[in-house]
Amino acid sequence: MSPKTYYIHTFGCQSNKSDSERIAGDYQARGYQSAKDWQTCDELVINTCAIRKSAEDRARAFLHKVATTARAAGRPKPKIIFTGCMLHHGKNKILEILSMVDEVLPVNEVGFNSPVVRKDKKHAWIPISAGCNSFCTYCIVPYSRGREQSRSFEEILAEVKILAESGYEEITLLGQNVNSWGLEKVGISLRKMLMERPDLELNHLPDNQSQYLKPKGTPPFVRLLRAVSAFPQIKLVRFMSSNPWDFHDELIAEIVANKKIDRYVHLPIQSGSNSVLKRMNRGYTRERYAEVVAKLRAGDPNVVIGTDIIVGFPGETEAEFQETLEFAQKMDWKVAFIAIYSPRPGTASWRLFSDDLPHTVKKHRWEILDQLINKNNLKAGNRPKVI
Ligand code: SAH
Ligand code: SF4
Ligand code: F3S
Repeated sequence: MSPKTYYIHTFGCQSNKSDSERIAGDYQARGYQSAKDWQTCDELVINTCAIRKSAEDRARAFLHKVATTARAAGRPKPKIIFTGCMLHHGKNKILEILSMVDEVLPVNEVGFNSPVVRKDKKHAWIPISAGCNSFCTYCIVPYSRGREQSRSFEEILAEVKILAESGYEEITLLGQNVNSWGLEKVGISLRKMLMERPDLELNHLPDNQSQYLKPKGTPPFVRLLRAVSAFPQIKLVRFMSSNPWDFHDELIAEIVANKKIDRYVHLPIQSGSNSVLKRMNRGYTRERYAEVVAKLRAGDPNVVIGTDIIVGFPGETEAEFQETLEFAQKMDWKVAFIAIYSPRPGTASWRLFSDDLPHTVKKHRWEILDQLINKNNLKAGNRPKVI
């Protein structure tokens, strides 16, 4: 009998793509072979994303396509394992609405314990932390991926060592708060944490708030970057996504000095308006963001910055949007991933604010920013009219 085959269809971000490589490793270890497409596999893993409603809609549409394609071809449909960030809906609810699903499993239960099967032979994704505690008000990730947990220094280094020795030259360190790696969260057990971690102190950023404890001395993430860059075989080190709140001066200095680190730095802003940032619970101001960017550019003029922006956050006034526009002109981002706000059930912004902007306004704002940043069409001073 020929071995059973699997196929993994992945939606969403790099964390999901990296998880899928780990799931593939587990299937191979169990003797499965990779199918060339989903039409011919015995088991189909659908690794889902829930960041916006449209991402969830795409997963549903895909499921229907799988079921109808199999029916039209007169074949039984593959066994469907549903995993990833849509699991925050709960297993029973998913099975109730999506009847063609056979199993609903958290990613680590689909299989996470075998050598990773990577498609790329030169570049590797390495998750250094999982989950998120930041609770930006619009975001589903703390619910879909759970609490933030950093992998240990030793474990990460062991993975990099194997990669370096087997021909890999480029690595990207992954985490939802990648530069907060190794820090602990300000939370209910703060006092206990401060007792257990004498290497941390309360963070006093000159900002509206701060979400992590501040490292005394070299931040853990900087230590990690140095250790990873020390492998002679590793030529390029990237990391994402960084947050402005743990972009300490030591990290800026490391990026400037360590030329193995990519000159492209991705630093999501989400909004250029302080009042919107506050409603988003982002924990920094536009001034703080601008300070990080200015220091990076002063340290090395070759540093290139990209960002993520959400337009149409609840209550975003025309004046607030203009602040983002004006900030974009100052920042001169190379690229921006611009998203239209999508209320995610269960999040704070979904509970607290009404999604009050008409889609036409959101779309218009999206287009203006896209033209300005990504198409480079709108010159400074030539401000478009905002509806
Ligand atoms: N941890 C990263 C972002 C992860 S989510 C960070 O904090 O920067 C990727 C991007 O999706 C976010 O940067 C944001 O721009 C967008 N996003 C998240 N939730 C969204 C929502 N409810 N509606 C629209 N865009 C959203
Ligand atoms: Fe979402 Fe904020 Fe966490 Fe990023 S930092 S994953 S936007 S909650
Ligand atoms: Fe990534 Fe989407 Fe989950 S962006 S963390 S796969 S909700």
